[in-house]
Amino acid sequence: MRNIKLSIVAVAMVFGVFFAWNGWVTKAQTQTAQSQGPTIGQQFKNIKVLNDVPAEQLGKIMNIFNASLGVDCAFCHNTKDYSSDEKREKQTARNMIRMTFDINKNSFNGRPQVSCNSCHNGHEEPTAAPNLWPPAEEAEIKQPDPKPTADQILANYLAAVGGKDKVAKVTSRQITASRLEPDNKTEAEEIWQKGQNLRIVTNYPTAVITEGFGGSNGWKVSNGPELHLTRFDEAEIARSAQVLFNPDLRSVYTKIDYRFEGQIDGRPVYLLTATTAANQADRLYFDVATGFLVRRQSVIRTALGPFVYETDYSDYKDFGGVKIPTTIKVAQPGVRFTRKITKVKINAPIADSSVFNEPKK
Ligand code: HEC
Ligand code: HEC
Repeated sequence: MRNIKLSIVAVAMVFGVFFAWNGWVTKAQTQTAQSQGPTIGQQFKNIKVLNDVPAEQLGKIMNIFNASLGVDCAFCHNTKDYSSDEKREKQTARNMIRMTFDINKNSFNGRPQVSCNSCHNGHEEPTAAPNLWPPAEEAEIKQPDPKPTADQILANYLAAVGGKDKVAKVTSRQITASRLEPDNKTEAEEIWQKGQNLRIVTNYPTAVITEGFGGSNGWKVSNGPELHLTRFDEAEIARSAQVLFNPDLRSVYTKIDYRFEGQIDGRPVYLLTATTAANQADRLYFDVATGFLVRRQSVIRTALGPFVYETDYSDYKDFGGVKIPTTIKVAQPGVRFTRKITKVKINAPIADSSVFNEPKK
């Protein structure tokens, strides 16, 4: 069982994307997507298959469709009226949803083992013939003996960024950054941080988007079109703020466990699973050689497979005795960008701590 898990992880890393694997994601490890509030059938106009799925999953499922088929919303929709059935692809997709539910029901005891991506794997049309020149199988990773403890890995991380005393001396940061989009557009960003509180302002040509975390919930607002965040997105904004510049991960998670050694881009990493008091579980990956945190993932289960939020941290650089990641890559189905930190001002006074609170409308 263990070997299967490892090879699945290795394959996922080779392709750099996550396909529908559930094998080692236990219930306790994921944000539970239990029914809360209205269903899709209650909230939307023209629903024939996803009727009983919680409405808060609709956006996540649609983004999973986009990423699984390598398309955008207009592939299936008249984007002026999403309830319209005029596109043949939307009708096909309905049949595909039914088929996927049936496969899981009839062949996997109702467990959501197969999703759109299991067959499509990023393409509109799956290929039935096997690849005659498959990428080389990655060698199985030899597991460390004895296994390191979570505490040792966390202590290495703290030491790698500068150690407890230096970390304690940096109480706030004022940061200049830029955000690089997949189409190579960039936007200027300003970031304020104090403890686990964070505020990020992104200046788009047409709107200013501000997101933050002020000690309870994550929030995100726009001075243009209104944004609709699910509770999953709010939790993700909160977690990304709490983890970003904070090597004391025990202050974020109530339970942290060692899982195994794997690889990211050919570099050995340790995987820890970390659970918050609200029972939301993340996966934290640490570079074995440098000790740095290099990746964090949160997974939500939807009716059509896992939705993965992923953040990669790299290019750690020293500012005031403490190293912070200056390249932060954010990816989830439908979202992909790279944040580059260019300037950091240490311990600049943040006069009004309300900058970290959600602005009143
Ligand atoms: C592969 C096809 C496909 C793609 C791509 C897709 N959708 Fe859908 N979408 C559907 C199907 C099928 C339904 C109807 C589901 C049902 O009947 O149960 C639907 C329903 C919807 C609805 C509900 C409309 C209503 O009121 O009845 C919305 C809103 C929606 N999609 C938005 C989006 C957005 C936004 C995107 C891009 C992020 C997107 N979809 C991408 C297939 C797709
Ligand atoms: C068991 C494998 C399998 C699964 C699972 C699967 N598909 Fe497909 N899908 C196919 C195959 C094969 C085709 C091509 C059929 C053809 O060419 O006639 C296809 C075609 C499609 C098409 C038409 C593409 C086009 O270019 O017109 C859409 C849309 C689609 N699938 C959406 C989905 C969605 C959405 C899901 C998940 C709910 C899904 N599929 C799950 C195998 C699968």
